Amino acid sequence: MKEEIEQLLSRVNDLKCSSAKEIEEARVALLGKKGEITRLFDEFRTCAPEMKREFGRKLNELKQAAIAKIDELRQGASSENVQEGPLEDLSMPGNPLPLGSRHPVSIVRQQIVDIFRKFGYDVAEGPEIEDDYHVFEALNFPPNHPARDMQDTFFVSVGHPNPLLLRTHTSSVQVRSMESMKLPIRVICPGRVFRNEAISARAHCIFHQVEGLYIDEDVTFADLKQAILLFAREMFGPDTAIRMRPSYFPFTEPSSEVDVSCNICHGKGCNICKGTGWLEILGCGMVDPNVLEASGIDSKKYSGFAFGMGLERIAMLKWQVNDLRHYFENDLRFLSEFDTAVEV
Ligand code: DAH
Repeated sequence: MKEEIEQLLSRVNDLKCSSAKEIEEARVALLGKKGEITRLFDEFRTCAPEMKREFGRKLNELKQAAIAKIDELRQGASSENVQEGPLEDLSMPGNPLPLGSRHPVSIVRQQIVDIFRKFGYDVAEGPEIEDDYHVFEALNFPPNHPARDMQDTFFVSVGHPNPLLLRTHTSSVQVRSMESMKLPIRVICPGRVFRNEAISARAHCIFHQVEGLYIDEDVTFADLKQAILLFAREMFGPDTAIRMRPSYFPFTEPSSEVDVSCNICHGKGCNICKGTGWLEILGCGMVDPNVLEASGIDSKKYSGFAFGMGLERIAMLKWQVNDLRHYFENDLRFLSEFDTAVEV
């Protein structure tokens, strides 16, 4: 048996094939059901126990060598085909390259921007590295105000009195818009924001928001409510209802949080809406007169509303994704699920 194994091993090592067909024949002859190596494995079962150890090892080496040789021959054959094989039909379509797909957060951002563009809003952007003034101070968060604790901040420099930081919300872009645009102002501000949060299924240190701002003469809470209702129906479907709950933000007065009726259970209660029938989508309110005045707008003449929402959250609700981390891991199996889900 020992000799047989050695003979076979040297045959395997010297094996040469000139076509894929020959390689397959060699594989069957060696490793197929009735192949020579397979037969040796059958014989091995009957050999004396004291021989088993040595033969077992040798047989396994032979089998591995045969598998490796077949693989090597196959690779050689396929690379020869590519390099030297005849080019049979130059008009054949090429090998398709897999197409990428849009990220679900980009899809949602585009939908929101498109909806507000229809209402006459322009898009505005601002810097991700901002100063304390635009992120907090001008939005009515005085230094040491406890409301700053709502947003754990990454500071870039600790300069006083106006340190640089990574913006914690896109509300900073409302301030920049009020400073630079002519009245009336209607803007929607999408962007990336940063907070010093531990990463979990429900929180991340980087996420995306869209801020909206409308300032004109005689803008009222009824206008805010109507804008949000129209948005919610465009985004989540024509039967969507909204409900507004009183809330607090330093830059709006009065302030409100908005829920939409759960688009999964239609108000009956399910695990997505935690049995309430409602899903929270955004914060909003009438721009606080202090905020208007800080940017040089006459709060006696003008009023306005603002709102802000998290894009990951909207995308999670829209597609019932239960873990925020999926949006940042870039697993193609996850990312490729969304482009077809959007009606363009
Ligand atoms: N900036 C708030 C946040 O990040 C969201 C927000 C709430 C924006 C109310 C607004 C608003 O414009 O009016 O939590």
